[in-house]
Amino acid sequence: MSEFIYTLPSNNPAVSYQHFTATPATGALGAYVEGLDLRDLSAAGYAELRQALLTHKVLFIHDQSLSVTDLEQVTLQFGAFGREPYVTCMEAHPHVVHVVKEADEKAPFVFGGAWHTDWTFQERPPVFTLLYGHDIPPYGGDTCFANLTLAYEWLSPGMQALLEPLDAEHSPERAYGTGANHNALLENMHILYGQDVSDEVRYHPLVIRHPETGKKVLFINPAYTSGIKGLRAAEAQPLLDYLFNLAVSPAFTCRMRWRQGTLAIWDNRSTWHMPVADYHGMRREMFRTTVIGGVPSR
Ligand code: SIN
Repeated sequence: MSEFIYTLPSNNPAVSYQHFTATPATGALGAYVEGLDLRDLSAAGYAELRQALLTHKVLFIHDQSLSVTDLEQVTLQFGAFGREPYVTCMEAHPHVVHVVKEADEKAPFVFGGAWHTDWTFQERPPVFTLLYGHDIPPYGGDTCFANLTLAYEWLSPGMQALLEPLDAEHSPERAYGTGANHNALLENMHILYGQDVSDEVRYHPLVIRHPETGKKVLFINPAYTSGIKGLRAAEAQPLLDYLFNLAVSPAFTCRMRWRQGTLAIWDNRSTWHMPVADYHGMRREMFRTTVIGGVPSR
C-alpha cells in the first residue's frame, strides 16, 4: 500500500489566448497553434507565445512561410542564439543547422534519432529549440516529446529526496565521440565526430528548478547523461535506466505531426524529444536554431 498521496501533477491545460488558438495534443504536453503569422506578430503576441510555450512545453505552429532569415528573426524574439557543437551550420547562416534526409539515402537513420534534450553537456544548454519544417514527407517523420516535470512529480517523495542532492554527468561521447560511427550514415548532414570530447563533459544538478515556471524537472536524458557524481557506474546506471524508462511512459509524452510550414518550438529545459525514423525513402528537410539558456540550477 502506497504511503504517499498522489497530488495533481503539472498537466497540459486548454487555454484561450488572444493572439492565436492552441489545441493541446495530449494530456501531458504539446499544443498545435494556429491563427498567427510569425513574421507579423506584435511584441504582445510574442510575449503570449512564450507564455504558451511555458504552459504546453512544445508548440507546433502551423501554416508559416519562413525563409531561413525569417527563422533567425523569430529565434531572436526569444533570446540570443545558442552554440551548435558537432554540426556544421549553414555557410551564410552561422546559427542555423540544416537537418535533411534525402529520399535516396542508404540507411534509415535520422539526425538526433534517440531521446534527448539538446546539448545538455554545455555549461549553458539551450532554453528553447526552433525547428522549421520546410519539406515534410506525406506521412512519417513525426517528432515525439516527453515532459520531465511530470515524470519528476510522479516520483514518490522518498525518491525525489534521494535524487535532489545529486549531480549528473553529461557527455557528448556516445553521440559524437570516438565510437560514434553512426554519424557516417547521415549522408547529407555535416557532423563532426570521432574526436576526443572529454573537454565537453560536465555536471548539472539531476533535479533542476525551472527558472521561469519554478517547477522541478528531472534534468537527465538518455543521449548525454553518462553517470552520477559519487556513484559507481553499477549503481548509477540502474537508477538512470529506471528514470529513462519512466519518462517515456505514454502518459508523459506526445507525438507531434508536422505539416509543410510548421515551426516547432520546445522548452529544452523541461522536455526530451526524438524524431521517428520511419520515413526511409522519403525526403524531410528542416532548419534548426537554438536560444542560449542559463546555467541549470536547483
Ligand atoms: C533534433 O533532434 O533536433 C531533430 C528533431 C527532428 O528532426 O524532428
